[in-house]
Amino acid sequence: MITGWHVCGFGVGLMLSINCHADGAAIAKTGAEAAPACQICHGAAGEGSAPAGFPRLAGLGATYLQRQLAAFADGTRVNAVMMPIAKALSVAERVEVSAYYAALPVPVATLKSAPAPMPTPDSVGATLATRGRWADKLPACEQCHGPGGRGVGHDFPALTGQSATYLANQLAAWKTGARPPGPQGLMAAVAKKLSAAELRAVADHYAALPARAAQ
Ligand code: HEC
Ligand code: HEC
Repeated sequence: MITGWHVCGFGVGLMLSINCHADGAAIAKTGAEAAPACQICHGAAGEGSAPAGFPRLAGLGATYLQRQLAAFADGTRVNAVMMPIAKALSVAERVEVSAYYAALPVPVATLKSAPAPMPTPDSVGATLATRGRWADKLPACEQCHGPGGRGVGHDFPALTGQSATYLANQLAAWKTGARPPGPQGLMAAVAKKLSAAELRAVADHYAALPARAAQ
C-alpha cells in the first residue's frame, strides 16, 4: 500500500500527486455519492458528444463551469438531466470537478458526427460571428468569445468544439428564460436579438470551425 499518494487521473497521462482532496478527476471518472460519472456523457477526455447533444467541458473556464453547475443545482438553468446531477454534488465537489475539466486540453477533433461544411465568410452565421449587427446594437460574437470563438479567460466559454444542436439549444433557452441571463445579462440580451434562422446559422457556423485553445 502506498500511503499519502492518490491516483488523481488515469488513462492517457497517468498522474500521481500528493493530497488531491475532493478529487475532481475521481468525480469525472467514477462519480460521487448520488452523482454518476461525468465521463459517461461528457466523454473520457471531456470532449462531449455531438450526436447526443452532450457539451464539451474540456478547456472551458473554471468559473464558467462552476456557475453552470450552481445554476443547474438551484434550478435556474433548466435541464432534466443535469439538474439532479448538479444537486447531488457539494459546493466543494463542484469546484473540484470544474477545475479538473478546465485544466483538460482542448480536444481538437471533438465532433463525432461529420462537421458541417465551412461557412462562407459572408454567410449569415459568419457575419453575426465576426461583425454583429450594429444597427441593432448586436456586437459580434467574437468580441466576447474571441477570434474563431475559441473562448476568452474564465467567463467567456468557447463556442467551437460544441455541436450545432447544443449551441442552438442554449441560444433558444436564453430567449425562453430556461437559462439564467449570466454575467450582466449579456447573453440573454444577445439571444433575444437573433431570429430563429439566425440563431441556427450562427450555431452552424461555430460547430463547423475547428476547436482551438482558449486565449
Ligand atoms: C446522463 C448524461 C450526463 C451526465 C452523466 C453528466 N452530464 Fe453534464 N450535461 C449533460 C447534458 C445533456 C448537458 C446539456 C444541458 C443543456 O442543454 O442545458 C450537460 C451540460 C453540462 C454542463 C454545462 C456545459 C456548458 O457548456 O454550459 C456542465 C458544466 C456539466 N454538464 C457538468 C457535468 C458534470 C460535472 C458531471 C458529473 C458530475 C456531468 N455533467 C454529468 C448530460 C450529462
Ligand atoms: C457582450 C459579450 C458577449 C457577446 C457579444 C456574445 N456572448 Fe455568448 N456568452 C457571453 C457570456 C458572458 C457567456 C457565459 C454565460 C453564462 O455564464 O451563463 C456566454 C455564453 C454563450 C453560450 C453558451 C456556451 C455553452 O457552453 O453553453 C453560447 C452558445 C453563446 N454565448 C453564443 C454566442 C453567440 C452565437 C454570440 C453572437 C451572436 C454571442 N454568444 C455573443 C458573452 C457574450
